[in-house]
Amino acid sequence: MNEVVDFINVNRDRYVEELKRYLAIPSISALPEHAQDVRQAAQWTADALRTAGLQNVELIETPGHPVVYGDWLNAPGKPTILFYGHYDVQPVDPVNLWTSPPFEATVRDGEIYARGSADDKGQVFMHIKAVEAHLTKGGALPLNIKFFIEGEEEVGSVNLDGFVRANKDKLAADVVVISDSPMFDRGIPSICYGLRGLAYFQIDIRGTKTDLHSGSFGGAVANPGFVLAQILAQMKDRSGRIKIPGFYDDVRPLSDAERAEWKKLPFNETKYRKDLGAPRLFGETGYSTLERVWARPTFEVNGLLSGFTGEGAKTVLPAIAMAKVSMRLVPDQDPNKIAELFEAYLKKVAPKTVDLKLTRMHGGKPWMTEFDNKYVRAAGRAIELGFGQSPVFNREGGSIPVVSTFQQELGLPSVLFGVGLPDENAHAPDERLDLGNFHNGVIASAYLYDEISKL
Ligand code: BES
Ligand code: MN
Ligand code: MN
Repeated sequence: MNEVVDFINVNRDRYVEELKRYLAIPSISALPEHAQDVRQAAQWTADALRTAGLQNVELIETPGHPVVYGDWLNAPGKPTILFYGHYDVQPVDPVNLWTSPPFEATVRDGEIYARGSADDKGQVFMHIKAVEAHLTKGGALPLNIKFFIEGEEEVGSVNLDGFVRANKDKLAADVVVISDSPMFDRGIPSICYGLRGLAYFQIDIRGTKTDLHSGSFGGAVANPGFVLAQILAQMKDRSGRIKIPGFYDDVRPLSDAERAEWKKLPFNETKYRKDLGAPRLFGETGYSTLERVWARPTFEVNGLLSGFTGEGAKTVLPAIAMAKVSMRLVPDQDPNKIAELFEAYLKKVAPKTVDLKLTRMHGGKPWMTEFDNKYVRAAGRAIELGFGQSPVFNREGGSIPVVSTFQQELGLPSVLFGVGLPDENAHAPDERLDLGNFHNGVIASAYLYDEISKL
């Protein structure tokens, strides 16, 4: 391993230059006009896998964006890792809030700024370079590895469940490894053992054929903007509890042991609040901030649209109102069941004065695992070797839909070892990745393969 680590140290700057080229490709999966860029990023990923020495590298078509696959299976009798990540990125708007252009990766103060730097190209690249280091120095990997990098994670991995189900043999492995999450805090690496799920919807309300003069018609018909506000106001009570009947039926309660562990984590609530710029924190009564984000479901308004929002004033009665809403789910809630409950409740609370249409968008199941297993312990040792610090164990509020599919369809445990930071601005302007964490992450990944090979 010493030679491998030396190689990684010597090549530190080259990795950054290569990563910049990866980050230059605007692979925004949500925007149809970027479909060619998404494909280009898939090809770039495949080329990077080949350069690293992986074999059987291919782009596999799906009904959406292609999956990139590559493997190295020349260690008979040794464990097999299935490494999962995504090469697609989120849209960049509002682009004027970026300090440097989102697809011109720029290093400032030891951090690389670009869309996809942390989520997830940088973290995928970290593993590709760890493989490259092993294959260059030792001519072999200590175990078998399969890379499975998708291009639709940021749009809900809609085609991936089908893909996994249809390719069980191809994806067969002993353990899944994922680096697509932040670490607990700067200097505090972590292993994540739980993710929330998601159920996403669009609500469309129509009151009248067209917008109307609010003087001539105001008072005679319902105002869709107001109706939407009234509907949304019925989703949560004052204590932050969601009012959809049956919503909490399948929520697994937090154990006392878990709560006690989380209380020991070095979480500074005042700093957290100030960093967010929030006058006060708010959430469900009876739970701490970490508990609210990691272990409790939420109902969020993601976007609202109605009427006149330009400069000045316009006396208008809008014809329509629209909201994008989503719920983060926790074990053992099921997104389809939640969708049924939500639809039924909406029907109940919506007045007859407007037409309401509910569209189901993407979703994903929550995931949680026992983390006392040999793979997690191996990852703990690797992280300690790479970061000089043993990891804490955390859950996360975000979602990676395929993780529960790996569990259910392939029966595989997952080890989530992320090297982003909580303030890395994923999905927001000025997304960045700390290059020290990236570098330690390459070393930790190289050790991870070594540690798992000994199991
Ligand atoms: N990398 C994130 C998931 C994540 C975020 C894990 C924060 C842990 C902490 C992933 O790329 C993501 O953004 N997922 C989406 C999924 C959705 C589109 C189905 C999410 O969480 O919104
Ligand atoms: Mn991600
Ligand atoms: Mn993301």
